[in-house]
Amino acid sequence: MKIALASDHGGFELKDKVKNYLQKKGIDVLDLGCHTEEPVYYPDFGKACGEAVMNGEAERGIVICGTGIGIAIAANKIKGVRCALCTNQYMAEMSRKYNDANMLALGAKVLISEIAFGIVDTWLDTEFEGGRHQHSVDLLNCL
Ligand code: RB5
Repeated sequence: MKIALASDHGGFELKDKVKNYLQKKGIDVLDLGCHTEEPVYYPDFGKACGEAVMNGEAERGIVICGTGIGIAIAANKIKGVRCALCTNQYMAEMSRKYNDANMLALGAKVLISEIAFGIVDTWLDTEFEGGRHQHSVDLLNCL
């Protein structure tokens, strides 16, 4: 599986840690920036990651900013993206089981890296349940 990663300056440090964590697990990563702590605009990076997932450059995406809120909003503007902002493993699990989230948003100012890694693992390892949840996801795709 290939994972696209993007962050603004507020998420840059955690993005690098998540990138190393994924690479150590043997997961292919597409790093879309940013690459320094120089201030940038989170909508640009949420959009780039959402587009990478939707055009098939990566199967899923992870976006990070200070709270995770702005970059999740940006990613969700891209048609077909279902980006879930998760602050714990339960949310990550449900985002996959019920919402078939194809993107994960994390807040660097909200999470220590060890908690973020647990969220990432759960989100990667949990499958969509389909069934009664499929129709809701189909409705999302019509919005
Ligand atoms: C910093 O620009 C901060 O606004 C950003 O990282 C994020 O928290 C926005 O939602």
